[in-house]
Amino acid sequence: MATISVRTRDGELHSFEGRVGASLMENIRNGGFDELLAMCGGCLSCATCHVFVEELPASASLPIPSIDETELIEGSDYRQENSRLSCQIPFDETLSGIVIGIAPED
Ligand code: FES
Repeated sequence: MATISVRTRDGELHSFEGRVGASLMENIRNGGFDELLAMCGGCLSCATCHVFVEELPASASLPIPSIDETELIEGSDYRQENSRLSCQIPFDETLSGIVIGIAPED
């Protein structure tokens, strides 16, 4: 079982089983967290899938953000060092235990 924990904007932490092969964004949306808007559906054009990676499992690594992802995140008032666009992160077993916070809405 590969789990994802999501901190919603009210500060609550929710854990659920993730679907391997789907993006983190798809997993969060499928988990019922509608406050992650993901308006472009993962086309890398909206930045409304912005999350903070609060905890990463020790053996896990994330793909290096593309220039387009970096530029979109730089446009957010809430950008942090651990900011990522969740549509750009494929979820797999190595990420089981990841803790994600949904960024405030820009
Ligand atoms: S869903 Fe639009 S950039 Fe990720």
